[in-house]
This record gives sequence, structure tokens and C-alpha cells, in this order.
Amino acid sequence: MTKIGIVLGSTRPGRNGEAVANWVLEVASARGDAEYELVDIAQFDLPLLDEPYPPSMGQYSQPHTHAWAATVAGFDGFVFVTPEYNHSISGALKNALDYLFAEWADKAAGFVGYGSVGATRAVEQLRLILAELQVATVRSQVALSLFTDFENFSVFRPAEHQVQALDATLGHVVRWSEALRPLRGGAA
Ligand SMILES: Cc1cc2nc3c(=O)[nH]c(=O)nc-3n(C[C@H](O)[C@H](O)[C@H](O)COP(=O)(O)O)c2cc1C
Repeated sequence: MTKIGIVLGSTRPGRNGEAVANWVLEVASARGDAEYELVDIAQFDLPLLDEPYPPSMGQYSQPHTHAWAATVAGFDGFVFVTPEYNHSISGALKNALDYLFAEWADKAAGFVGYGSVGATRAVEQLRLILAELQVATVRSQVALSLFTDFENFSVFRPAEHQVQALDATLGHVVRWSEALRPLRGGAA
């Protein structure tokens, strides 16, 4: 079955991202079209990139890189749950992306952003980064507002229409992940 990783892009204590990622996992798991799994980058304890060779050379030396690579390699596609920090993604998510190369390639990705304007600026930047990593990004995305999808900017209460946006995004990610399988040689 197609495997989709839901990548939680915030590592902050008290992060809003955890409730958002759990909601994504709950809605996704009810669909039955793929196997969905939460990928919490905080659990990998990745230091700032400490590999001597560029990831595109695939010569990893650190145990944390091998663990992260094995996890990412196991998925056919991704949903990135991303906050917006200073109009971009978190440093932690950029670092986690930078660590690898081949493990991201020829897969699909969708986005669930949250911020004052749905993290749309962060997602635009994330699309550019993923283009370099040869990830195909779907058009539809979820833009959660800290004003209308959270109470007091901290208690996650997504508006009903957000479920439809999420379903559309997940559907595209699964279809594109499957369509790209021949390019991955069935490895993922
Ligand atoms: C360092 C930092 C920078 C931020 N910059 C922005 C921003 O540029 N735009 C925005 O909409 N929200 C911004 N915020 C608010 C975050 O979107 C909000 O705090 C969100 O809950 C962060 O995700 P997290 O709680 O999962 O870490 C920023 C928050 C932090 C901590």
C-alpha cells in the first residue's frame, strides 16, 4: 500500500503543530487509500547539518542521518505540516530537508500550513526547496489561520471547510505518489 509520511515541521516546546499533525493523521487514516504515518522530526534529534559530504553524494556518516534517511526512504509521498516563521518554514524543517537527497526524490508532497495567513508564504518557499529535491508538489493545500482555526491562537479548532481542503490535498498526494512510482523503481 502507498505510504504517506505526515511530517511535523515544528520542534518547539508547546508547538501548535502537534495538534494540527494529529488532526491530519486522523482525517487521513479514515480515507483508507494509503497508509499514513506521523513523522515528528523532533524525535530524530538532528543537529545542524554535520555531514562532511553533500547529501546528493549519498555518503552518510552519522547514525542520526542513517536513521532519518531510512525513515524518509520508506515513504512514497509526504504531507508537510508547517508553521510560518518569519515568512518561511522553521529552521528545523529546512535542516531536516537538507540532510537528505535521494530519499526525497520522485515523490509527491502536499502542505498543511498554519499561521496568521495560513503559512502561505512559508509554503511557497517550501515548494521552491522541494523543487530542488525533485519532489512534485500538488496545487491544493490547507491554510489554517491562527485567528479562525484556533482559539486564543493556541487551541486547535479547525473550521469545517478545512476538512474538505485536507481531503482534496490528500487525494492529490496519494495519486501523484502512485503515478511517480515507476520513477522510483518501486524502491519506496
Ligand atoms: C520565530 C517565530 C516567527 C514567527 N513568524 C511568523 C510569521 O512570519 N508569520 C506568521 O503568520 N506567524 C509567525 N509566527 C507565529 C507562528 O506561526 C505561530 O506561533 C505558530 O503556532 C508556530 O507554530 P508552532 O507552535 O507549531 O511552533 C512566528 C512564530 C515564531 C516562533
